Amino acid sequence: MQNQRVAVTGGAGFLGSHVVAKLLELNNEVVVLDDFSNGKMVHLAQVREHPKLSIIRGDITHRNDVVQAFENCNTVIHLAVLDLRQSIKEPKRVNTVIVDGTMNCLEIAKENNVELFLNCSSSEVYGTANYVPMDEKHPLHPETPYAAAKVAQDMYTFSYGRTYGLPWTTIRPFNMYGPNSHWQGYRGELIPKMIVRAMNKQPLVLFGSGEQTRDFLYVEEAAKAVIDVANNPLSRGRTLNFCTGKETSVKRIAELICQAFNLDPAEFIQSQPPRPGDVMRHLGDQTAFSEIVGYSPKVEIEEGITKTIEWFKHLPYKPAELLAQEVLRSWE
Ligand SMILES: NC(=O)c1ccc[n+]([C@@H]2O[C@H](COP(=O)([O-])OP(=O)(O)OC[C@H]3O[C@@H](n4cnc5c(N)ncnc54)[C@H](O)[C@@H]3O)[C@@H](O)[C@H]2O)c1
Repeated sequence: MQNQRVAVTGGAGFLGSHVVAKLLELNNEVVVLDDFSNGKMVHLAQVREHPKLSIIRGDITHRNDVVQAFENCNTVIHLAVLDLRQSIKEPKRVNTVIVDGTMNCLEIAKENNVELFLNCSSSEVYGTANYVPMDEKHPLHPETPYAAAKVAQDMYTFSYGRTYGLPWTTIRPFNMYGPNSHWQGYRGELIPKMIVRAMNKQPLVLFGSGEQTRDFLYVEEAAKAVIDVANNPLSRGRTLNFCTGKETSVKRIAELICQAFNLDPAEFIQSQPPRPGDVMRHLGDQTAFSEIVGYSPKVEIEEGITKTIEWFKHLPYKPAELLAQEVLRSWE
């Protein structure tokens, strides 16, 4: 994707900020539409003054904001979302953003005859695995309001392709991590939370045995892959897992982080009772993705964690300030 005008909803968020940076590197004009409910201007600090970047503080559920953002765009990359843990507290609000917001984006993308609507789904739509690795044909068993809304988002995207001929691709990321990830409050994710705790010499807590596995994808690779998938016409009308096809246990993550901070795992890794409804194995099949882009993700978890720690060390906050925002049992 080069020399295009691309709208990125949720462009100030974790994944979005990396996608925006890569699009600008490739000489695209980029319009970010974000309400900054979870996104941060600091995520875009490196590119903030870029002459080809416009930032609209607006809401995907407001038609006029979307009309303004998508004007003259060739491509829409739709990443705006409210997250899973928020959906447990406020399912209707999250449904409004994900489902009504997506419909606004689809509708206005259609009116603008965009060449691609890149829809960002989530592996959460699969629910607990019936089999691993989970390919794109795995049944959809949304187990949270967030996942149910993401299924609706995917179905509406598919339907706009069928009914109105809107060109689309759906990507389904598994667990992403890396710079700009969230450690704060109920938005905190496993890896950034553990890093913040290790920086403060606080115990890294495993909920349950720690044998739970996840398929962790480094965010910069995910952002590059968004563009590679968008560039490839073979991705049109396809749903593609974004994952590594490798599983890493939560305990292994804690050990790697202890190692990086010279903490004794026997002392610093502690256990608490399991989180309700926690999935034991979450592993994606990335065959379809690698067929389309011609490569597999390469950043190993050890390297990705090292890079993420470096990012944390350069944040303009003291470790204690980071810890003050971290909530151990973030789903409650
Ligand atoms: N982070 C992961 O591990 C992960 C895994 C699977 C799928 N995904 C998907 O990737 C996409 C990006 O997620 P992320 O992790 O970067 O999340 P994020 O919360 O960091 O980014 C989402 C952005 O959307 C913005 N937003 C929320 N409501 C909005 C609204 N009404 N109008 C405009 N903007 C709004 C937020 O301010 C935020 O900047 C989402 O579609 C998500 O479902 C993420």
